[in-house]
Amino acid sequence: MWRISVLTIFPEVFPGPLAASLAGKALAAGAWSLDVVDIRTFATDKHRTVDDTPAGGGPGMVMKADVLGRAIDATATDERPRLLLSPRGVPLTQARVETLAGGPGAVLLCGRFEGIDERVIAARGLEEVSIGDYVLSGGEIAAMVLIDACVRLIPGVMGAAASGEEESFADGLLEYPHYTRPQNWEGRSIPDVLLSGDHGRIAAWRRAEAERLTRERRPDLWAAFLQRVRAGSRTE
Ligand SMILES: C[S@@+](CC[C@H](N)C(=O)[O-])C[C@H]1O[C@@H](n2cnc3c(N)ncnc32)[C@H](O)[C@@H]1O
Repeated sequence: MWRISVLTIFPEVFPGPLAASLAGKALAAGAWSLDVVDIRTFATDKHRTVDDTPAGGGPGMVMKADVLGRAIDATATDERPRLLLSPRGVPLTQARVETLAGGPGAVLLCGRFEGIDERVIAARGLEEVSIGDYVLSGGEIAAMVLIDACVRLIPGVMGAAASGEEESFADGLLEYPHYTRPQNWEGRSIPDVLLSGDHGRIAAWRRAEAERLTRERRPDLWAAFLQRVRAGSRTE
């Protein structure tokens, strides 16, 4: 079973949105498991202190190495990757999500305040992962993003398995546009090709739209896509 352990000082926010829809049904059915660990229970003083002032001065507070070390040691007792949600981390991509979803699960550490004592990262082999170039107030929502993206790839979780294969990023392109009934809405029609019943033309239109959207919106993805296409045609 795919197993997630989340270390947080706000255990009450889980499972939150992860209890809804397909991820929630899969959780209830035992297709994946969620173990939420309250970091405060590893504090030893009577106030359950998890943070202290930054060495060298400056604003905010830093999560303490001794408390986090104990929390990680009690939780990460197997071979699952240990990830620290962090804006300094390697950006999360669909490729990384696929790798994580295909593995045993993960242990996720949610930072708060200014972040965690740097020594914990090396001492406990944490890999820093970012969900984007912006700063959240804590790692909990970032952890939920990562979990949600992974859980929907676990076999049997998504309704139609094929819908994952054509999604954005699956082959390095953004997804083509979708339409459904009514055929005309506020003077706007569904493109004729999608009503033609010609599967070859529909596939070609979708591919062209996926390429157009990627080229227009994500020059970074488009450049990487072209590079792969060129490399592929060189090796053929
Ligand atoms: C206020 S942030 C700390 C930001 C830190 N002082 C910095 O400038 O890099 C508190 C916590 O939120 C989480 N967090 C914030 N932004 C994130 C992001 N883009 N991706 C993943 N986690 C994030 C991390 O766990 C972080 O330790």
